[in-house]
Amino acid sequence: MAIDVSRDQHIATVTLNRPEALNAFNSEELEALLSAFMWLREEPGLRCVILTGAGEKSFAAGADIKQMVDLDAQGGYAFGALGHAVANAIERLPQPVIAAVNGYAFGGGCELALACDMRICSENAVFAQPEVKLGIPPGWGGSQRLPRAVGPGMAAELILTGRNVRADEALRIGLVNAVYPIADLLPKARDLAAAIAANSPCAVRAAKAAMSRSFAGNPATGLDTELRLFGAAFATADQKEGMRAFVDKRTPEFV
Ligand code: CAA
Repeated sequence: MAIDVSRDQHIATVTLNRPEALNAFNSEELEALLSAFMWLREEPGLRCVILTGAGEKSFAAGADIKQMVDLDAQGGYAFGALGHAVANAIERLPQPVIAAVNGYAFGGGCELALACDMRICSENAVFAQPEVKLGIPPGWGGSQRLPRAVGPGMAAELILTGRNVRADEALRIGLVNAVYPIADLLPKARDLAAAIAANSPCAVRAAKAAMSRSFAGNPATGLDTELRLFGAAFATADQKEGMRAFVDKRTPEFV
């Protein structure tokens, strides 16, 4: 994937750009995104980051199923851990991160959007955590961050059915803050970033750091549990069947 990073004064825009796979992530692309966020941490004068996908169809279609299909439990754990590292790097960036979701945000794509501080989307956006259809649980933080975003009952429905959520529903359930025509999405993201960047950078960083502590309990414990279960799922016949069925373009048969 090309991970394109551009900078306009105090605002950086990170664009996921692998159109042939609807911006799905393999490990090479995850490493590139991780490097981009590690680099952004050190960027002088940076006050806000926008994360978006190239084109008008997809933000990110999740983890690369074609890479995952033959992984064993150890490989699944390692791939999950890399996704966790990227999501944590986004979440822990000192500056706020806005996800501008321009189409599909499926699986790991939705999870990376959830690691951002806020989300806005285009009218054609579709969100889903479809992992259970592939024989695995969510693996890049969705089991912890989706309940925080939309509440435990709605998160349970979305994760356990794997169903799609269109932009209007995403707005209603609080998954996104606003919905715009696709042509307006990036300008609106920049307006939002500029409003943040106009404020005291020290106060904005302090407020973000404080808000990250606002949830009771230790989120790290939940993330560790998720990662262990994600890795273990790669030792099951369900994972092989679910992902092979996607690659073969057929409906999986879970027994
Ligand atoms: N991994 C690998 N390749 C993918 C992909 C993915 N996640 N999503 C799409 N692609 C590929 C397709 O295989 C296809 O490639 P070919 O042209 O070589 O066949 C290409 O991108 C275009 O996709 P479609 O033809 O399927 O496009 P569409 O418009 O008909 O459908 C879609 C779009 C509904 C998003 C569909 O592509 C889809 O369902 N993709 C899978 C989404 C998914 O299940 N994501 C979750 C992955 S698991 C995960 O992320 C685990 C985790 O928690 C970290």
